[in-house]
Amino acid sequence: MSVAVRGAIGAPVDRLEGREKVTGSAKYAYEHEAENVLHVLGVAATVAAGRVVHVDERSVLDLPGVVAVLWHANAPKLSKETDPELALFQSDRVAYRGQWVAGVVAESFAAASGAERALRVEYEAAEHDSVLTDGHPSLYTPEKVNPSFPTDTSDGDVDRGLAEADVVVDETYRTPTEHNNAMEPHATLAIWHDGGVTVYDSNQGVRPVRQALADAFELDPDHVRVISPHVGGGFGSKGTPRPNVILAAMAAKVLGRPAKVAVTRQQMFSVTGYRTPTIQRVRLGATRDGRLTAIAHDVVEQTSLLKEFAEQTAVVTRMLYASPSRSTSHKLARLNVPTPSWMRAPGECPGMFALESAMDELARALELDPIELRLRNEPQIDPESGNRFSTRNLVGCLREGAERFGWKEAPARDGRWLIGSGVAASTYPARRAASQAIARAEADGTFTVGIAAADIGTGARTVIAQIAADTLEVELDRVRVELGDSRLPPAMIAGGSMGTSSWGAAVVKACRELRTRLADDLPVEVHADTADDSGGVEREPVSSHGFGAQFVEVRVDSDTGEVRVSRAVGVFACGRIVNPKTARSQFLGGMTMGLSMALLEETVLDGRFGAYLNHDLAGYHVAVNADIPAIHVHWLDEVDEHVNPMGAKGIGEIGIVGTAAAVANAVFDATGIRVRELPITPAKLAASL
Ligand code: MOS
Repeated sequence: MSVAVRGAIGAPVDRLEGREKVTGSAKYAYEHEAENVLHVLGVAATVAAGRVVHVDERSVLDLPGVVAVLWHANAPKLSKETDPELALFQSDRVAYRGQWVAGVVAESFAAASGAERALRVEYEAAEHDSVLTDGHPSLYTPEKVNPSFPTDTSDGDVDRGLAEADVVVDETYRTPTEHNNAMEPHATLAIWHDGGVTVYDSNQGVRPVRQALADAFELDPDHVRVISPHVGGGFGSKGTPRPNVILAAMAAKVLGRPAKVAVTRQQMFSVTGYRTPTIQRVRLGATRDGRLTAIAHDVVEQTSLLKEFAEQTAVVTRMLYASPSRSTSHKLARLNVPTPSWMRAPGECPGMFALESAMDELARALELDPIELRLRNEPQIDPESGNRFSTRNLVGCLREGAERFGWKEAPARDGRWLIGSGVAASTYPARRAASQAIARAEADGTFTVGIAAADIGTGARTVIAQIAADTLEVELDRVRVELGDSRLPPAMIAGGSMGTSSWGAAVVKACRELRTRLADDLPVEVHADTADDSGGVEREPVSSHGFGAQFVEVRVDSDTGEVRVSRAVGVFACGRIVNPKTARSQFLGGMTMGLSMALLEETVLDGRFGAYLNHDLAGYHVAVNADIPAIHVHWLDEVDEHVNPMGAKGIGEIGIVGTAAAVANAVFDATGIRVRELPITPAKLAASL
């Protein structure tokens, strides 16, 4: 932006709280202390449908250290407005296996843990149905898809586009249930005081947690305080409040003592959200010279019996490529499963596995280079809205990536290893939401910026300080950032890749205003609100998205079908990069999670019991160091002044988009086998090799 002060926008600043984190002094939710604290655990339903007939409190109350059991017969009534996933113990109904039907309260975590195992719960089980199929009888069309996109769209005549095509691809792709698995499990410490409650909680936004508590316990939101200075990851699962928040507050209220709840790793597979499985039919028609005549993307996915979550899986197909005809649709089955929710790039991530696999299949059918196919279908304007793109550098990413990756070596063989390469496009919307911030010039020459932002390990605290330092034109070490506290000005959550964009806009506004007040008596504080601000420099509607290109080389063991990724290159165009060090980590993390999705991640449901079988990190495999090769991350110089005054687009999610398709496309290149169902396990290859 303006001048080169140390630590300004563009500087590779270390995380400001890095020392606290590596020395262990940074406190996470469960580590906060309170005198006389109670330890509470949720107790999971062991049937997938039916009702709780009785909870035998005596089965645990005599155990040492056990204080109480909460369940629907004795739990305080919560407001009827409470979110159904948070309305703990308000009815005897069981909607899915793993739903919390009771809470055990004890003097220690060990005692609570013993009680959780020993508690006898009597159920009346009912028939359940937990398995998603594309012809499921409960399929229906939701009114909108997350967060508020139209469910179905249609533009031009797809049937005609397909009929007139020289080449048609019509295939169905499947992605499995996946769980977010942040390193820090969800946890809450609740402390009541006169008429209100303070919670220390692990979340992606203090405001939604505050609102959930206010709603459930019918409190003035000003009497609820949520504190969340450090969060060990979320990937979407902490973007919405989870039942640990309610259980901690409920136990603390009933027992009149502070209470803390830790969600166990196993319980994270039922009560903290997950990525819905998808069944996606993609139809592409193209002329012989590789111009699309039709794109159709029809998605089947699931929701729970408690509430609707409709993932926006096909939304990306509405804007990515030019085609005279285009249609998308979403249908949901209502099942005895936990309610799906956000997981890194909900919509774009699974949707692009299907679309970018199908584009590769089309390129093969046309005998056209897959990059060239994409270049031939690059739209001049947003095909859905007709708006121009604020900046769109997909072509640049593909070209730069091809150069850096060495696209494209012919597939090869090295002993029993088959070697191949794949490419896929990547994109994610660049949005921002209203946020407020304060900026204060202190009497000692330092500055304080306050905003209810969340740093979930991304470096948010650091980039907010950089944006403030840059705007104030002062060195970074004169700027202090306060975040993670609901008493601070309300702000967007750390979600939708909108954090930096939304918070930064408010911080710039506050700091610009503060600069005009520096002649006043110090300290002086200003408050800014971006609610009424337009997105950027012009009022003309534009479409803003980040873009990227993913290149992957795989080695496939021709005996076992084992796939090893040997190289990965990602090139992104996401506006100005505020901090190259933390940004690189975001792209690397996204790509790592995408490779993990491609080869490893799958939560396996046993339909007979409605139960997830691999509900821990021994059975649910996330990529570890040995799975991940050198990943090379690059970005194009870009400034997008439409999204926010920093010229930056969000980068938290785009790294995972398209990665799995690039892997599947590379596996095809190496083996001639097209795997249309993730993850790409040895079993799906071995039989055909
Ligand atoms: Mo992210 S899945 O939008 O929290």
